[in-house]
Amino acid sequence: MGTSDTPGTVPDADSDAPGAPDAPGTPDVPGVPDVFDPRIYAAGIPHDRFRALRDHHPVARQEEPGVLGWPAGPGFWAVTRHADVVRVLKDAQGFSSHLGATQIRDPDPADLPFIRRMMLNQDPPHHGRLRRLVSRAFTPRRIDRFAATARERARRLLAAARESGGDEIDFVKAVTDDYALLNLTDLLGVPAADRGLLHTWTERVIAYQDPDEPPVLDAEGRPVNPRSPAMLAEMFDYARELAAHKRAHPADDIMTVLAGTELQDAELEMFFFLLTVAGNDTVRGAAPGGLLALAEHPREQRKLWDGEVGMDTAVDELLRRHPPVLSFRRTATRATELAGVPIAAGDKVVVFHASANHDERAFADPGRLDLARTPNPHVSFGDGPHVCLGAHFARLQLRILYEETRAVLPGLAPAGPPRRLVSNFINGIKSLPLRPAEPSAPRA
Ligand code: HEM
Repeated sequence: MGTSDTPGTVPDADSDAPGAPDAPGTPDVPGVPDVFDPRIYAAGIPHDRFRALRDHHPVARQEEPGVLGWPAGPGFWAVTRHADVVRVLKDAQGFSSHLGATQIRDPDPADLPFIRRMMLNQDPPHHGRLRRLVSRAFTPRRIDRFAATARERARRLLAAARESGGDEIDFVKAVTDDYALLNLTDLLGVPAADRGLLHTWTERVIAYQDPDEPPVLDAEGRPVNPRSPAMLAEMFDYARELAAHKRAHPADDIMTVLAGTELQDAELEMFFFLLTVAGNDTVRGAAPGGLLALAEHPREQRKLWDGEVGMDTAVDELLRRHPPVLSFRRTATRATELAGVPIAAGDKVVVFHASANHDERAFADPGRLDLARTPNPHVSFGDGPHVCLGAHFARLQLRILYEETRAVLPGLAPAGPPRRLVSNFINGIKSLPLRPAEPSAPRA
C-alpha cells in the first residue's frame, strides 16, 4: 500500500497499487487506456491511466463492452483534463443532462421519459425552476441546525466503535455508513423505523455493478436497470405517503418544505429518490475515503491533529484526493470540438472528476495530500448549473466527523487493505480496517 507523504508523482495513497490491474475481457482502444470497466476501480483510482489520458488523449474514445451481465453500449468520449471537464459541466446548452440522462450506461429508451423527470437529468431553463424550488429547503441556516445532532451521532458511533472494536475498527461498518445514512434521514425527515428501507433502496441503485449486491433479473435472466420505474415503485409509494404525512404533521425537515411547495407529486417523488441516492452514497464514500487518506499520510494527519492546518481546507483536500463521484455523463447537443477532438451531435461525453482533481495543469503536485492547499478548485461537487446542492451539508458532516475523530482518537493507522466498490460511478469503500494509533511520522 502506498503510504508516503512524498511529494511528486500522482499515484500514491489512493491507488493502493501503482496503476490498476488490467481488467479481463475489456479491449482497450489501441494505445488508449480503458477507464470504463467498473472492475478497475476496485483497486483504487487508476491514476496511471488517467495521467496517460490527460497527457496524450485528453478527449479519448472508450469502448463500452458488455460487462458483469450488462449489455454493451455504443462507446463514449472520456474527458480527463480539469479545464475540459469544467467547460463541459458549465456548458449545459452544448452538453445536455437531458438527452441521454447522466449515467454512462444508456437507459432503456422506454425508461428515458421517466428518468428525465429528475432535476439532475434536466437542462436549463426547466432545470432552473426545480432547482429554485428545492434550493429553498437547503438554506445554510436549516443545514447548520443539524450540526449538533451530527456531532452527537459521531461521538456515539466512535465511542461504540472503540468499545467493541478493540485494536482494529472497520470504520465503514462501525461508523461512516450509519453516520451518513442517519444524518440524511434526519434532514429529510424520515422516521427512524424506516431508515433500513432507505439503505436498501440506495444500495440497489449505486452498488448494482458490485458482485456483493446480487442483481435483480427479469424473466429472461437479464439484470433490471435499478433506475427503471419497476425497481423504484416501492420507493416512490413511500415518498408520496411521507409527503402526505408531512403535510398533516409539519416538522423542521426537507420533506416538510418540499411537500409545501408547488411541486407535483411525481416531481416530489423523483426528488426524494434523487436526495436518497445523491445524499447518501456520496457522503458514505467521502467519509471513509478521507479517513483512509489521513491514515496513509501520517505527517499530514499529525498536522491536523495538532491544529497546524485548518479543518476547512483539510475537508476540501480530502475530497479532492478521494472524490466520491468518479464520473458523470452528458450528451453533445451539436457538433463541436473539445481539446481539438471533433465531437458529433448525440455523442456521449463523460467527465471524470477523479482525473480532473489530479490534473497537473490545475494543481501543483496533485499526487501530494496537502491539507492546507489553497486555492483548491477541485470538481468533486461538479460545476455549472448542476453543481451539488448538498455541498454545504456534505462539508458540515465531514468536518464534524473528522473533528470528533481527532477529539477521541490519538490518530489513525491502516490495519489492512480497504475493500472498494466495483463501480465506475461511485468511489465507494466497503470496508476500512483502521487502528487507533499515534501517527508514526516524526513531527516536522
Ligand atoms: C461529499 C458528498 C457529495 C458529493 C461529492 C456530491 C457530488 C455531486 C455532484 C458531482 C453533483 C453534480 C451532478 C452533475 O453534474 O450532473 C451533485 C449534484 C447534486 N447533489 Fe451532491 N454530492 C454530495 C453530497 C450531497 C448531499 C449530502 C446531498 C443532499 C442531501 C446532495 C444532493 C445533490 C443534488 C440534489 C444534486 C443535483 C443538483 C442539480 O441537478 O441541480 N449531494 N452532487
